[in-house]
Amino acid sequence: MVNERIPVILDGDPGHDDAIAWTIAHASGKFDILAVCAAAGNQTVEKTTYNALRVCALIGLNVPVASGCPKPLMTELKIAPSVHGESGLDGPPLPEPVFEPVEGRSVELMAKVIRECDRPVTIVSTGPMTNTAALLLAYPELKSRIARISMMGGGLRNGNWTPAAEFNILVDPEAAKIVFESGVPITMAGLDVTEKALILPEDFERIRAQGTPVSKVVAEWLDFFYTYHKSLGYDGAPMHDPCAVMALIHPEVFTMKDVYVRIETCGDYCRGATIPDWNGRWGHTPNVTALVDVDRRAFCDRLVELIGRYREVLA
Ligand code: RIB
Ligand code: CA
Repeated sequence: MVNERIPVILDGDPGHDDAIAWTIAHASGKFDILAVCAAAGNQTVEKTTYNALRVCALIGLNVPVASGCPKPLMTELKIAPSVHGESGLDGPPLPEPVFEPVEGRSVELMAKVIRECDRPVTIVSTGPMTNTAALLLAYPELKSRIARISMMGGGLRNGNWTPAAEFNILVDPEAAKIVFESGVPITMAGLDVTEKALILPEDFERIRAQGTPVSKVVAEWLDFFYTYHKSLGYDGAPMHDPCAVMALIHPEVFTMKDVYVRIETCGDYCRGATIPDWNGRWGHTPNVTALVDVDRRAFCDRLVELIGRYREVLA
C-alpha cells in the first residue's frame, strides 16, 4: 500500500497562526508529520520551543521537536510581542509539554528525518526561514531530498512590519534569499493572499460551538490574535500561516501563479522586500508558485471543518 501521506517537517514560530496551521495539518490526515522545529521570530526560540511542545500536547502530536537557531543569520532577533504576547502564544491556558525537545538543534533533526525518509520531504515554513537556510547551508547534499517548501512569508505588493517587508522575511532576509535561490520548489503564501484569508468573528463562534477542548483553545487563540488586528481595522483574523498548510491540503481554494521572486537584503527602506518579476525583466525562470488569490469562504469552511475533526482530548 503506497503511503499517500505527504512526509512533512513543520518549522514555525508559534505564534497563534502557526499553532492553528499545525492544528489543521495534524487533523487533515494528509501528512506524515516527521518533526516539528521551533524558529525564533514571534518570540525567542526558548519560548517558541515551549509553545511548540504545548501545541503538540494539546493536539496529541507525538513527534520529535527541536529548538531552532536562536537568532537570524546576520542580525539580532526581532520579536512580535505586540501581536502574540509575551509568551508568544498568549490567551487560553495550554497543557504542559508531555515530552522534552530532542538534543541538538533543528538543523540536525531536519537532516536526520530527511535522510531517513524513503521519499522527499516537504518543509512547511511559517516563521523566519533561518532553520531551513541553516539546513541548506550545512547539508547541501540533502537539497534533492526536499520535495517542496510551502512557506508563509513576503508580500508581492506590500509588507506588514514595514511598508516593504513582511515579518518572516524581514527578521531574516539573508535566510530567505538562500532559500529562494536554492532551486527547491517553493509555494509562497504571501500577504497578498493571507490578508484575504480572513477568518471572521462569526467563524470563531462556529469553531467554539464545536465544544471540544481543541476547538475551545483555537477559538480563544483567534480571540487573542484578532485583538491586535482589530486595532488595525481588520474585519477578522488573517490566517497567514494556515495558508501555507491549506495550499497543500486544499489547493483548489487558491489561485496560484509561477513567478520569479528576489529577496532584497540591502536598502534603508526596502530590506526584506519580496520582489516579483512578473514581466521576466531579470530573465530568470520562476522560483516560486505564489498564491495570488483565495476563495475566503471556502478557505474558512475548510478550516472550521478541519478543527471539527478533533472530537476529544487526545491521549
Ligand atoms: O507576517 C505574518 C507572519 O509573521 C506569520 O507567520 C506570523 O506568525 C508571524 O510569524
Ligand atoms: Ca509564524
